[in-house]
Amino acid sequence: MNDLNGTNRSQGIPVNSVPKHVAIIMDGNGRWATSRGLPRVEGHRRGAATVRMVVEEARKMGIRYLTLFAFSTENWNRPKTEVSTLMKLFARHLESELKLLRENNIRLRAVGNREKLPESVRERLEMVERETLNCDGMDLVLAVSYGGREEITAAVRKICAAVKNGQLKIEQVSEETIAQHLYAPDLPEPELLIRTSGEYRISNFLLWQLAYTEIVVTPVLWPDFSRSDFASCIKEFGSRLRRFGLTSEQIKESRTNV
Ligand code: FPP
Repeated sequence: MNDLNGTNRSQGIPVNSVPKHVAIIMDGNGRWATSRGLPRVEGHRRGAATVRMVVEEARKMGIRYLTLFAFSTENWNRPKTEVSTLMKLFARHLESELKLLRENNIRLRAVGNREKLPESVRERLEMVERETLNCDGMDLVLAVSYGGREEITAAVRKICAAVKNGQLKIEQVSEETIAQHLYAPDLPEPELLIRTSGEYRISNFLLWQLAYTEIVVTPVLWPDFSRSDFASCIKEFGSRLRRFGLTSEQIKESRTNV
């Protein structure tokens, strides 16, 4: 997907500034719809078209992992009609996008509490996961019925069980142990988190994994989020100096020593 001169084919972004893992909080569907006098669910329908565009664009840019926050544990408390429309939308799109995923060599994975999902969604998720298992161009990770606190709680429970049955000693429990018990332990931590609609919150998304992630907030509402907005977020990431708790001087020194 990249040119020989080190420039990405998509939007002229230099290859070395494309993050390996991008996570997105797709916010603003409801506001997009109500500001036009439309029902909120219309915003979700338009939002689904943006999902398609972002997935295609991420693949072209050479992003290896793309995680989208599609439905949170807290979203279950929304009006019943909105929840059921969203579930129908997920089920329909999972089925209709399978071809696109396979053609673009994209593996679909889901993270979250699957037990709460209606069977129609769970079965389709599992079918698409199975059908795209060997695709290795990009991993599209859908966070559905997902909560960061729930994920960490589930990890703690698994670790406690391992301690209880003697597989693990308390002194052996480290940050690594917790990371290894998350929903998708093989995923690298996101380098970039994008949130649309101008809200400066993490909203219970990837609480463990976002510790050192760069955050870009754009005021654009998700249904309006365009190719060039996406490219701007990636370019903004490219201009950041990631310090990981070190000083700027230490970072410069470590770069000159390479
Ligand atoms: C947040 O906007 C968005 C959601 C809760 C749902 C995200 C769903 C989609 C983008 C549609 C389909 C997705 C797939 C994967 C096919 P909001 O409703 O909280 O907006 P508001 O803050 O303006 O009310």
